[in-house]
Amino acid sequence: MSDVNPLVAELRDLESRALAEADAASDAATLEQVRIRYLGRKDGLISLVLRKLGGLDPSQRPAVGAEANRVKTALQEALEAREAALDAGAGAGAAVDLTLPARREWIGGRHPVTRVMDEIFSIFRDLGFTRARGPEAETEWYNFEALNTPLDHPAADEQDTMYLLGGGLLRSHTSPVQVRIMEKHEPPIRILAPGWVFRRDTYDATHTPAFLQVEGLVVDEGISFVDFKATLAEFARRLWGPGTSVRFRPSFFPFTEPSAEVDVKRVITLPDGSTQETDWLEIMGAGMVDPNVLEAAGIDPERYTGFAFGMGPGRIALLKYGVTDLRTFFENDVRFLRQFAGL
Ligand code: PHE
Repeated sequence: MSDVNPLVAELRDLESRALAEADAASDAATLEQVRIRYLGRKDGLISLVLRKLGGLDPSQRPAVGAEANRVKTALQEALEAREAALDAGAGAGAAVDLTLPARREWIGGRHPVTRVMDEIFSIFRDLGFTRARGPEAETEWYNFEALNTPLDHPAADEQDTMYLLGGGLLRSHTSPVQVRIMEKHEPPIRILAPGWVFRRDTYDATHTPAFLQVEGLVVDEGISFVDFKATLAEFARRLWGPGTSVRFRPSFFPFTEPSAEVDVKRVITLPDGSTQETDWLEIMGAGMVDPNVLEAAGIDPERYTGFAFGMGPGRIALLKYGVTDLRTFFENDVRFLRQFAGL
């Protein structure tokens, strides 16, 4: 250190002070003052040092001159960088124009099928039902046999089930939840079980290989066909409106006896205010729980009776909103979904 020329030492000292001041400058005006103080041509501190160059031994001048140039360049670069940083900060603030009209935000809405699901649940909650769930991967026992459906029964085939490698299957309906609930709980039972079900169907306007179902089950002493019809008719009228007609059409399911398909005929109001009746629309399969099912689940069929029903909220959403292609519910095109946001 001792052989460092005192002018070189002075230049380095100025450099570090200037850098610290540039760093501390919080606006362009202060930064400009720093520049003038150190780099100013006449009275800048570096110029003042260079003026002493004449008093030096000529052999020492080049070294001091070179150091002065290095310090000037370094300072200039540091000042430019600091200026750019201050500009960027100010730029972010300047880009906000508070006089511009606000961009309208679209608040996300519930999916139409979720809407129908929520409505179904709220109606049945008022009727005293609670929510239940069962697994999507099931055994043949729960999906078929316990539901009075032998594996060689056409119904087992008809549903075209997806079997899993290594055993088991993807449930083809939510009815296995009936059995699981009855195994675990003593009557009275009043449950509603939503969930995905899977069938080997092609993906088209009216079928998807996975879809939602909602299963209902009521089991107690003295549950009759009248309770069955009254409950489901009440549900249909609350969902579709008081003017709705409800029809129980005889049908067949292995796990209910008697079985019915429930149809509704709605009264819709057209845009001109006039009303019009729809065709009969099928909304669910249902029936009195077959005594064999009660027995398979460990419930005494001599003492208890019950009814069960299953419906597809996707299908109900189609009918309710006049949608013609089930696939639109799965493809999540915001232009489609947006129509339901404000409902
Ligand atoms: N599990 C039947 C289906 O998927 C619907 C159903 C449920 C019918 C309960 C009767 C009772 O088609």
